[in-house]
Amino acid sequence: MPDPAPPSSCVVLVPVGGAIDPGCDDALRELERRGHPVWRVRGYSAVDAARNQMATDALAQGYDELMWIDSDVAFDPADVGRLRAHGLPFTCGLYPKKGPRQFACEFLPGTPAVRFGVNGGLVEVRYCGFGFTHVRREVFDAVRMHHRLPTCNQRFGSLLVPYFEPLSIPEPGGRWSLSEDYAFCERARRAGFGPLADTRVRVWHVGPYRYGWEDAGGGTPRYGDYTFHLPGAPPGEPVPAAAPPAPPPADGFTQDWFTAHVPLWERLLTPLAGRPVHALEVGVFEGRGSVWLLDHVLTHPEATLTWVDTFAGGADHAGTDLAGLEGRFRANTARFGGKARGTVGRSADVLRGMTGERFDLVYIDASHEAADVLADAVLAWPLLRPGGLLGFDDYGWRGFPQPERCPALGIDAFLAAMRGRYVELHRGEQVWVRKTA
Ligand SMILES: C[S@@+](CC[C@H](N)C(=O)[O-])C[C@H]1O[C@@H](n2cnc3c(N)ncnc32)[C@H](O)[C@@H]1O
Repeated sequence: MPDPAPPSSCVVLVPVGGAIDPGCDDALRELERRGHPVWRVRGYSAVDAARNQMATDALAQGYDELMWIDSDVAFDPADVGRLRAHGLPFTCGLYPKKGPRQFACEFLPGTPAVRFGVNGGLVEVRYCGFGFTHVRREVFDAVRMHHRLPTCNQRFGSLLVPYFEPLSIPEPGGRWSLSEDYAFCERARRAGFGPLADTRVRVWHVGPYRYGWEDAGGGTPRYGDYTFHLPGAPPGEPVPAAAPPAPPPADGFTQDWFTAHVPLWERLLTPLAGRPVHALEVGVFEGRGSVWLLDHVLTHPEATLTWVDTFAGGADHAGTDLAGLEGRFRANTARFGGKARGTVGRSADVLRGMTGERFDLVYIDASHEAADVLADAVLAWPLLRPGGLLGFDDYGWRGFPQPERCPALGIDAFLAAMRGRYVELHRGEQVWVRKTA
């Protein structure tokens, strides 16, 4: 496999209709930090027109790799590198539609099941949505030549090739009107380039909540290894992955709300590594964040993690299997021995009793009710040393239509009340501040 070209040769193209989801925005900023040009393009009412213009412009400017990312997907920036590293012409990550239990892709006819997660691999699909899709120049060139696509819009002074013009195709029983992304796939396929999905890439489709692969199948519990059985397909073995499967997970995690934040935590928190810092995590669940902190930040022998959790979940965990949660957390953190210690209980009760302790880092990620987030922050603030860091998760979470049932209102209220006593370090899907007084 050839070495990937530098990030500067892969432009990230983001057609923006409304707002950019905070989880997407964080990851886009990280891609910029890593050297990718990122084009956030607004002002088009039709996404096919936006994609035609963006592709034409990017190719004219000499980019050899076009990474398409929709503004309502949240992703791990490392997965852009994962797609690029395949050295393949046309690859993508798969995600479900928001609402119907379907993937935003069309699997090849006869596909019985597809395996996602740590045991996934490369799977050819008939069509893919362009929410997280990497396409090399040769595909556009082949599409253009094979279909003799014209260059349009000379009179407007901005040339455009209609790579994404919607298309209708004959299907058994009638015709299928293909949207712009499926139309591109159809053209690419006829020109010799079918899309390959890397089913290890986890892409979240953000609506009222983050839709993941499992939403296309049965529901919201999240799995590291997930097999999607296609409706009506005869029972059979999952489609074998073309790439060698990764080793089975050696961890006790069933959910992952954390990994997308690693680039941010690396930037903000790893400067504390190797120092005798004391951290407080309010809401730990299975300990993904805790284990990361202990591995990457709390590395000094005297550094500690203090945790609080009911292990009973919150309203945001409807549909999540909580059986054995405390046991999984304890097993996942067992290797850190006495460095990690905590209390099972409601955060407000536990924090109220912690008057003598002082922390350098506080991370609030327990109940998502605005009043609870506000109470957690107010109670944790006196425990945080001046100069210490305070972080909140899920600033962009909108699991309920009522603002009082989501964290943002509580976070905003707390920050308004503390004006002048902190500096803001980051505001995206998470909010981080440094206490100054
Ligand atoms: C989103 S999860 C925490 C995720 C974790 N910080 C991570 O990075 O993986 C929220 C956790 O808060 C806990 N929780 C919810 N309400 C709580 C409360 N009032 N007091 C203490 N824990 C609570 C839940 O049991 C759950 O484990």
